[in-house]
Amino acid sequence: ERSAQVLVASNRGPVSYSLAEDGSLVSRRGGGGMVSGLSAIGPDAGALWVCSALSDGDREAVRRGVGEPGVKMLDISAETHHAAYNGIANSVLWFVHHMLYQTPLEPVFDSEFRMQWAAYQEFNRAFAEALAEEAAEGAAVLIQDYHLTLAPGMLRELRPDLRIGHFSHTPWAPPEYFRLLPDDVAESVLRGMLGADRLGFLTQRWADAFTACCDTVVGGLGDTRIGVHGLGADADFLRERAHRADVDERVAELRAEIGQDPDGNLRKTIVRVDRTELSKNIVRGLHAFRQLLDDHPEWCDRVVHVAFAYPSRQDLAVYRDYTTEVARVAEEINAEYGTPYWTPVVLNLKDDFARSLAAYRLADVALVNPIRDGMNLVAKEVPVLAENGCALVLSREAGAHEEMGDDAITVQPYDVNATARALHEGLTMPPGERADRTKRLVAAATATPPAKWFLDQLDALTATAH
Ligand code: G6P
Repeated sequence: ERSAQVLVASNRGPVSYSLAEDGSLVSRRGGGGMVSGLSAIGPDAGALWVCSALSDGDREAVRRGVGEPGVKMLDISAETHHAAYNGIANSVLWFVHHMLYQTPLEPVFDSEFRMQWAAYQEFNRAFAEALAEEAAEGAAVLIQDYHLTLAPGMLRELRPDLRIGHFSHTPWAPPEYFRLLPDDVAESVLRGMLGADRLGFLTQRWADAFTACCDTVVGGLGDTRIGVHGLGADADFLRERAHRADVDERVAELRAEIGQDPDGNLRKTIVRVDRTELSKNIVRGLHAFRQLLDDHPEWCDRVVHVAFAYPSRQDLAVYRDYTTEVARVAEEINAEYGTPYWTPVVLNLKDDFARSLAAYRLADVALVNPIRDGMNLVAKEVPVLAENGCALVLSREAGAHEEMGDDAITVQPYDVNATARALHEGLTMPPGERADRTKRLVAAATATPPAKWFLDQLDALTATAH
């Protein structure tokens, strides 16, 4: 049709479908930075979001022609999607960029990997073809993340007239780790991305790592420009959403669960909210909380660790095992330290956005200790909503640390003892200091709200000559 002026491409789209018992399709809209970013250009801008069908419900929706204006969902077969998404994107590229492999045993690049790699190529080609078909002459195309590293190069060949951008929402691995990938795969990924006019990263550190990989593997960046665009919290949206009735209700429920200390005050609250994601380091966070109770028995009965770890990528056995381990360690701590009146760890494994916002409002300390993280928006969102200000315990390996490190309590994510000390420091931070730091954390966290983040990239892409 060739009519879209601004195109976004990502694996996960802004809407998903499930099949109800009566055979009807139920749609569900998602949130996130890209959704609010794209809405910033307005409904008449000729924007199109190209995404993949992810589930049977999605595929059925595509077949029945059910959809939303401005969204094009690609009917990619379940087998191809599974191999590209679970096999390559989430088990290989995600592991490489977050440096998650236990290298004596993994990775193993064998025939199964080669089949998955072929599926990943097919998946990327489907996107490139759809984008080529829909984009108006000279349109701007913004391709997202590690699922779609080959699409920029493929699209460039089909449509040299387009302005092509790619944005990485993850960290980027340094060359010595990136080169765990087979040579031809490492080269294809980089050359695929270099098909773009402009590549975006969340921090300078990830941009530099990418540049170093290109220098090592393909002899440099060529004509492709690199930009750093840190995504910030959407303060207006959060403040409005977090004060609706459903969240107020959950604040009351959560207060009852947290309960009162022996002096009759609401117990102190250490909050974390993550996908149950290997890179989020939830288990070491729990160990650190246990260490805190061990080192400082005075906190017993006076603090609760509210840990929300909602399900993610459960098709992968390592993620299922990790979820089990999170639950096991939380139960162990409760069995060891809990009393009939005090549950030290309140663990929640269900996705409940309203309940997460309620937890943010009640946080005294936010624990964000990832092994490695592209940005981490929780670190940015909690200070915005914490009603009494909060201390932020933040891993130096999170992208957010580049912007918020000065006013956070920095931790090395593998150092459980240091993390326990940081939790104690957060809990005992004098109120005046906590208020001052929170103010500066909020300023840093909200400097680039999603709309600005998106428009900056679009402007920069439109300004690139090619
Ligand atoms: C990260 C990735 C996103 C992804 C999200 C959720 O933030 O950068 O691309 O959408 O995780 O993961 P999922 O596999 O559920 O899409």
